Amino acid sequence: MKKNKDDQDQKLTEAGNLLKAIPADRKNLIFFLHQVQDQLGYFPEELVLKAASYFSVSPAEIFGLLTFYSAFKLNQSCAHHIKVCQGTACHVRGSEAIGNEFTRLLGIEPGSYDRGKSISLETVNCLGCCAIGPVVVVDGQYQAQVNLKDVEKIVAGLTALEKSDETDEI
Ligand code: FES
Repeated sequence: MKKNKDDQDQKLTEAGNLLKAIPADRKNLIFFLHQVQDQLGYFPEELVLKAASYFSVSPAEIFGLLTFYSAFKLNQSCAHHIKVCQGTACHVRGSEAIGNEFTRLLGIEPGSYDRGKSISLETVNCLGCCAIGPVVVVDGQYQAQVNLKDVEKIVAGLTALEKSDETDEI
């Protein structure tokens, strides 16, 4: 348990240290939010005050951005996050079937997580890389031209990871 807490503290410190490479100009705020989101899979509340003071904005403004854009998550409710793009370009390339397959295999609807709270599934509208659709993002990693077989592999991979995490904790 202590190790998990130390690991978590270490991750937060590393995410906070990303600021060192970013000029303290408010126009860089969104870039920083994305960097942390990509690194941790969510934006921790612990970093809101730090970012607010660094970029000279109010914490309320940052919370506003984090809650307005679906690209951001404020909590780490699940270990693994799957985002399925349902924007127009991905949709015409079959993303609806991709999303349905995730739902079938994981047994969860978009916007929810599995019973063990280890995998969350959500749909988003355009990830800005339409040319490589259908696009799925798994734990911050973009996967291009995803097909139904890929969905099976992604789910099998995450499920295996979860099993090995459980074994490590015993
Ligand atoms: S529609 Fe999917 S990335 Fe743009």
